[in-house]
Amino acid sequence: MHKPDFKEARTMDKRQYITKKFSLNKKYQNYFQGKTYFLKTYGCQMNEHDSENIEAILKALGFQKEDDYEKADLILLNTCSIRENAHNKAFGMLGRCKHLKEKRPDLMVGLCGCMAQEETVVASILENFSWLNFVVGTHNFNEIPALLVKSLEEGLQVEVYSREKDLVEGMPTERQNPFKAYVNIIYGCDKFCTYCIVPYTRGRQRSRKKEDILEEIQKLLEDGYKEITLLGQNVNAYGKDLYENYSFGELLEDVAQLNVPRIRFVTSHPWDFTDHMIEVIATHQNIMPSIHLPVQSGSNRILKLMGRRYTKESYLELVQKLKAKIPHLALSTDIIVGFPTETEEDFQETMDIVEQCQYDNAFTFIYSIRHGTPAEKIKEQVPLEIKEERLQRLNEKVNFYFLKNNQALVGKTLKVLTEGKSLKQQDAYFGYTETNKLVNFTGENIQLGDFVDVEITEAKTWSLDGQRK
Ligand code: 5AD
Ligand code: SF4
Repeated sequence: MHKPDFKEARTMDKRQYITKKFSLNKKYQNYFQGKTYFLKTYGCQMNEHDSENIEAILKALGFQKEDDYEKADLILLNTCSIRENAHNKAFGMLGRCKHLKEKRPDLMVGLCGCMAQEETVVASILENFSWLNFVVGTHNFNEIPALLVKSLEEGLQVEVYSREKDLVEGMPTERQNPFKAYVNIIYGCDKFCTYCIVPYTRGRQRSRKKEDILEEIQKLLEDGYKEITLLGQNVNAYGKDLYENYSFGELLEDVAQLNVPRIRFVTSHPWDFTDHMIEVIATHQNIMPSIHLPVQSGSNRILKLMGRRYTKESYLELVQKLKAKIPHLALSTDIIVGFPTETEEDFQETMDIVEQCQYDNAFTFIYSIRHGTPAEKIKEQVPLEIKEERLQRLNEKVNFYFLKNNQALVGKTLKVLTEGKSLKQQDAYFGYTETNKLVNFTGENIQLGDFVDVEITEAKTWSLDGQRK
């Protein structure tokens, strides 16, 4: 058994990561033939993409997908730690699994992902959910086959490593979207923002080798993918741990030169965004003019307490540079309200930065205490009613700008990647613009996966309506 340890997770020593190739031991192939699985994913795109790997592994074990968890032979939860409500949802689901297990003792249940990396979660599982088959962290999904098989004989297997091990390349992937693919470029995060649990659950920053990334993208292009999203907690830090003169800007340029029709990337940290990266984005038509740039707060005092490494002024300077260089840029962000000690004046600074940036999209959150993070120790927490009230005012403001920006697009013709057919209306489709806005549109002779010119006829807060030109 390996249990997580936050003290070890916090260590910053430099490690040499060996790249290993994934291979499934022959004895596990089709071991579970005839059995079914239900996989529930919580959280961010990183987890969604991990689930694509996990599904492919389960299929190689012989499992078939089952959409109703009550009927599945294996229930697997790929969990998220970012806020308290993500925890509550996963524990609620474990409670439902417990009832099922009482009725069906053969039911297999596993928990993986970020929550597995938390000391308190593993302690609670050992105490209250010891009937589980396995708990696997974020660093060793590749061990799921061996642990599941072992659990059938020996009961609960807990294998969670506090510090990341080797990089595993060549994991099989069961992609959920036939046109859009996620490609990891960097794992983990070294920023240690004081409210955030990610550096503890995802480990130190580790970049994949550029050759492995470019090879994966080349294969995706051959398979007909139209859009690639480069993934990482902080993509702008790409390469820092691996190369002297090859960073995110160089990687973006190399990916653009593979002629990927659409390239996106998430998430960007303002501190690591360089002029060279802006130049590369501005130069290549196939790098989409859509940037997610979390601001978190507009107050310099709070930004400092959060350990964000920029000020309101330097963030705004970066936004101005981006808007000046990248025509039609759509900017999105993440904002936290109610960080410990946040006053009404601090909150007004956040409202002000929203007015100045006029975001196209924003994810807004109430601060949630994360056990083991530095912000947990700040005594003056903001009462929940105040946090909720600030969130409401903030949401009204961000929604105002979403609609305003969308209204400015009425009458314009935009290129849309067609992703699906409308369930409600014949000859109606949905897809996304280059700026990542959802468009519902009508038109004839359209195939899914087509790029279509769509004239925008109506703007809503979260989507656009249009018709094919
Ligand atoms: N409480 C609330 N929101 C958080 N985020 C990260 N940690 C917390 C927390 N403890 C938000 C940040 C981040 C996004 C992914 O989640 O805004 O950018
Ligand atoms: Fe968390 Fe900050 Fe890293 Fe983002 S940059 S994952 S908020 S520590």
